[in-house]
Amino acid sequence: MPPTPVSSDLRPTNDWWKSAVVYQIYPRSFADSNGDGIGDLPGIISKLDYLAELGVDVVWMSPAYKSPQDDNGYDISDYQDMDPTFGALADMDELIAGLHERGIKLVMDLVVNHTSDEHPWFVESRSSRDNPKRDWYWWRDEPETEWESFFSGSVWEHDETTDSYYLHLFSRKQPDLNWENPQVREAVYEMMRWWLDRGVDGFRMDVINLISKKFNTDGSLDGTESSYVDGPRMHEFMQEMHREVLAGRNLITVGETPGVTIAEAQNYTDPARNEVNMVFTFEHMNLDTIPGQYKWGHRDLYLPDLKENLSAWQTGLMETGWNSLYWDNHDQPRAVSRFGNDGEHRVASAKTLATVLHMMRGTPYIYQGEEFGMTNSPFVSVDEYQDIESLNWAKQAAQEGWSTEEITFALSVKSRDHARTPVQWDATDKAGFTTGQPWLAVNPNYVEINAAAAVADPTSVFHHHRMLINLRHTHDVIVNGDYRLLLPEHEQVFAYARSLDGKQVLVLANFSDEHISVDLGEDAGLLDGQILLSTDGRTEARPNLNPWESIVVLNG
Ligand code: NOJ
Repeated sequence: MPPTPVSSDLRPTNDWWKSAVVYQIYPRSFADSNGDGIGDLPGIISKLDYLAELGVDVVWMSPAYKSPQDDNGYDISDYQDMDPTFGALADMDELIAGLHERGIKLVMDLVVNHTSDEHPWFVESRSSRDNPKRDWYWWRDEPETEWESFFSGSVWEHDETTDSYYLHLFSRKQPDLNWENPQVREAVYEMMRWWLDRGVDGFRMDVINLISKKFNTDGSLDGTESSYVDGPRMHEFMQEMHREVLAGRNLITVGETPGVTIAEAQNYTDPARNEVNMVFTFEHMNLDTIPGQYKWGHRDLYLPDLKENLSAWQTGLMETGWNSLYWDNHDQPRAVSRFGNDGEHRVASAKTLATVLHMMRGTPYIYQGEEFGMTNSPFVSVDEYQDIESLNWAKQAAQEGWSTEEITFALSVKSRDHARTPVQWDATDKAGFTTGQPWLAVNPNYVEINAAAAVADPTSVFHHHRMLINLRHTHDVIVNGDYRLLLPEHEQVFAYARSLDGKQVLVLANFSDEHISVDLGEDAGLLDGQILLSTDGRTEARPNLNPWESIVVLNG
């Protein structure tokens, strides 16, 4: 096994994040230290050596701030304190120190499109029409647009205190902040500086491209569908944030940007514009949805579509900007169940998905449990889900006439809860996640699929990830090389080449349950190079691939 370097010589100080790999923790489901069934900060602290062994450079932690937990912490009532369910600020300090001792940086989730309705800012704002914080949120006498909330229903909620309506793109307990108000922006910047001064190394910015809303000439909100995406002042706000908070600090920043296009992503991530390092695209997450429908209208993925899309992002951000690379996060079902084969070929397909992602140009993100091949939950009824988006939608779908079978099927393929079942640490009761009753059922396959088993097995998905991380730390061509898609029309094979300074890396992956013989045409010579990594322990490259096999070959 190659050693996992803690830091790499390749990393220039300013864009060290280009050769970094990020690991996402969803605190609620990661590790529970006190038996209340909910993960917590001491639980995370107890797993730092595991993260160091994996070799990741950065941890992005989903919100653990004070919160009524309407949306599992994405509804924040105090940005500068931790929720007692998760721990205290002292635990945060210990976490930051523990990560830094191991050479790992910490990215906090920055959720500032909205607050909780229990945040003191909103409590003040709703108290009277002339409260000084009234204008910190979006108040109207009547619903002004017909937008539908991401969590179903209208985005406008009536509030009795002042007989008016406030805007919430997400749940009614997540009122949108009014970024037009400079006091709001300054309050956010001050909070960000406070965290940076405490030692955090960057931010993942929740739905950041929704903060600038578009107006009509009469000052009302432009109610066109999705007109709140990449609004007119977006780049001004991002540049202001950069100036006021981020500049000169050598951080890692990533914007979550639903609906973003490649052209807009170039703008967000062009270093010359001083906004963010990278953004998350959602386009590849929408390819298994029926066009024109929201995520619940499921269809099977067609591999050439996926290749075309990911390749467009690879080449689109080649000259300007930078990609973030992900299959999994806390909002998506498990990739091995969604795009791989989580039955017979679980190990091979989890490895191959990782190979294809990690060898691309961009910064890879691993979501907890992905590194050892966790799968979707086997939930069969709506009652087993907890996620607000899933439950609100199921209720609405039933009213719209979807059958119970259709609803449970859609949830079984797309619910966010598949990512949120507790991390399966070992084969003991409750998968070693908690000594209590877990808040969301543990997947019964923990007996076979767990971190301890994967760490102990040198051929596991875990060690495959470890080696992929190591390759990124070792080969400049993987970090900075150009990207070229091979065999674009092939319905079972994902193949591409990376090249830099006379070196070429071939990535060849079988995305099917069948044995395949690949004809690389004029690129066949790339198979003559040195195998850097293989899912099947192969030492020489060949055009015949086993089901879900992938290889990485270095030339030059
Ligand atoms: C995106 C987050 O990733 C998701 O979990 C959350 O529900 C929404 N933004 C609202 O904050």
